[in-house]
Amino acid sequence: MLRIPLARPSWDDEMRQAAIATLDSRQWVKGHQNVAFGDSFADYCGALAATPCQNGSVALWAALQIAEISAGDEVIVPSLTFIASATAIPLAGANAVFVDVDEYYCMDYQALKEAITERTKAVIAVHLFGQVIDPRIVELCQQNQLVLIEDAAQAHGASITDEAGKKTFTGAIGDIACFSFFPSKNMAVGGEGGMITTSKQHYVERLNGIVNHGRSSRIEVQHLGSNLRMSEVSAAIGSVQLLRLDYWLQRRREIATRYLQECGANEKLRMPKIRENSQHAWHQFCILVEDEDAFCKHMDEELIDARVHYPIPCHKQPVFTNHPQHNINMATTDSISTKLVAIPVFHEMRDDEVERVILALNSY
Ligand SMILES: Cc1ncc(COP(=O)(O)O)c(C=O)c1O
Repeated sequence: MLRIPLARPSWDDEMRQAAIATLDSRQWVKGHQNVAFGDSFADYCGALAATPCQNGSVALWAALQIAEISAGDEVIVPSLTFIASATAIPLAGANAVFVDVDEYYCMDYQALKEAITERTKAVIAVHLFGQVIDPRIVELCQQNQLVLIEDAAQAHGASITDEAGKKTFTGAIGDIACFSFFPSKNMAVGGEGGMITTSKQHYVERLNGIVNHGRSSRIEVQHLGSNLRMSEVSAAIGSVQLLRLDYWLQRRREIATRYLQECGANEKLRMPKIRENSQHAWHQFCILVEDEDAFCKHMDEELIDARVHYPIPCHKQPVFTNHPQHNINMATTDSISTKLVAIPVFHEMRDDEVERVILALNSY
């Protein structure tokens, strides 16, 4: 019996052909593949513009540059997230302010409200594990004139539906959004990759220039940028993967629904909740357990990968030792960070693999 991993990236003939054709063309950088991938990704999200870049971490740094965040500014971020959501802030010269998460493991609305000061300039809200953020955060940011940056690294294709029935996808919820195409993500590009999107006309020029040294034309540099460009091969692969995304999301949702329906009775497992009126992208299926070591050992014996995600919240990471919030107790984050375990939920999972996970969950 083979071990079931947490993720398995997809690769097929059409992606292979796209990669080879791009290499054969010898246009390896700055070509039409990047333009096409950016345009189709913006269309998919319903954003005004999108620009491919090297990875999700630089996308966050770039988003802060586009928003003109600088020294002394405060940027609010949840502490329960991948470290790049937080480190982007000091890398951009600003101060990170950490807040707790809600029952859906995303930034807590009330905690955010209380953390806003006159120095707050932006918010990085993370659609963690593929779950969309509390939509009230959008309005709160507008009221306080804060730039809302979505960290959508884990949430390609997630969406929220408003009272009028209008669906808004990640990438078009806030002012600027950042995606990652790391191989384990819901879609990938055959290597490292990221995307920055915006729905605001006044950011489009900076968005286009930021990955290209901040250039506004071939000879003129208007803003601070760098070479953050995606290779043409990656963009060509990404364009094919994007065509598959809806189908893959459907499969992830099918698997997650089976876990919720068929394993929800086991009282030792606290299953994830789905935010009302939202469509989860299920990048991760994280279960809250009392004894994470016993649970991971049980899954390991069944040859199923299971891993605690973010056992050390960002504010407690050694890199933030000198941060004023380093020693604070953050109620929800501190109580769940070591007990939130990810189990396999990837679009290429076969039915027999899903069955094995269900059996393992129910026999725990
Ligand atoms: C929430 C979040 N933000 C940012 C990133 C950074 O993306 P990348 O690994 O492409 O730099 C990741 C990637 O794991 C992530 O999960």
